[in-house]
Amino acid sequence: MNDEFYHEPVLVNETIDFLLGKSGADLNVVVDCTLGGGGYTKKILEDSPGCKVIGIDRDVYAISHCRSSLAKYSDRLMLVQDNFRNIKEVIRNSGFEHVSGIMMDLGLSTYQLISEDGFSYQRDTSLDMRADKDQRLTANDVVNKYSEKELAKIFYEYGELKYGRQIAKNIVLSRKNREFSTTFDIVDMMRELVPPRYLNSDLSKLFQAIRIEVNAELVNLAEVLEDSSDVLETGARVAVVSYHSLEDRIVKNAFRSSDKLKVITKKPVEAAEEEITANTKARSAKLRAAEKI
Ligand SMILES: C[S@@+](CC[C@H](N)C(=O)[O-])C[C@H]1O[C@@H](n2cnc3c(N)ncnc32)[C@H](O)[C@@H]1O
Repeated sequence: MNDEFYHEPVLVNETIDFLLGKSGADLNVVVDCTLGGGGYTKKILEDSPGCKVIGIDRDVYAISHCRSSLAKYSDRLMLVQDNFRNIKEVIRNSGFEHVSGIMMDLGLSTYQLISEDGFSYQRDTSLDMRADKDQRLTANDVVNKYSEKELAKIFYEYGELKYGRQIAKNIVLSRKNREFSTTFDIVDMMRELVPPRYLNSDLSKLFQAIRIEVNAELVNLAEVLEDSSDVLETGARVAVVSYHSLEDRIVKNAFRSSDKLKVITKKPVEAAEEEITANTKARSAKLRAAEKI
């Protein structure tokens, strides 16, 4: 599979420009916390011939894809299947104490959306949604086992769905007759509840909420941001691309409140119209960067 099919990277040049800084400083070791199809990692390896990259992804398919697509860089690339919240341990186990850059491109890869179960409401697949298939909790557990109160909280907080309580109530009522087992069971339930013109946007929000819960996305993000400032060399940078307001808020607040980081991006950087036209995922992307002081 070629890299573009696996995932077309968003804001890749802008992200790497931030890591390099004004001086275009030499990078020794960079951590790509969200390897995916390897677009960011490849760019660093190509542009900075002396730089080593530690590529982390918790999805085994991302690791195996990059192991073959980036094979020619294997002497400078360390691939680690892990959760990025373990960044300190991953860096230590790779033989380093500090690194000269950290980048994150949050969310899902195109491959996950179109080929792995549960992530998309446009395909009828099992309710999985685990990025790490060794993890126990699945979307099926969330939808069929969580209480009405727990579901309502998730839908409201992670999906920003105004009538999350109503959806939670419907789920709990329906599952008395029959368990939810596929993504289309959820789509059918939502069809009865939501006017057609809001169906797609509400399904996106609902699937986002369940996915955030299954993969503990916001908790992991807060942890990796906290630890990043400890493992960066002085003057080195962390750059994060996020795709929805919940993530962006966490990044903004973590950078602003840290006494070890200086914010480089007063406002988040967004993709140019040209990139948005070529790649619709870029529309919601927001890039923020900070420097270790
Ligand atoms: C948007 S994709 C990254 C795409 C990548 N920049 C590229 O150029 O192809 C996000 C990736 O981050 C991974 N990911 C998300 N959260 C993670 C976490 N907590 N730990 C490790 N990997 C994570 C996902 O599995 C996915 O492969």
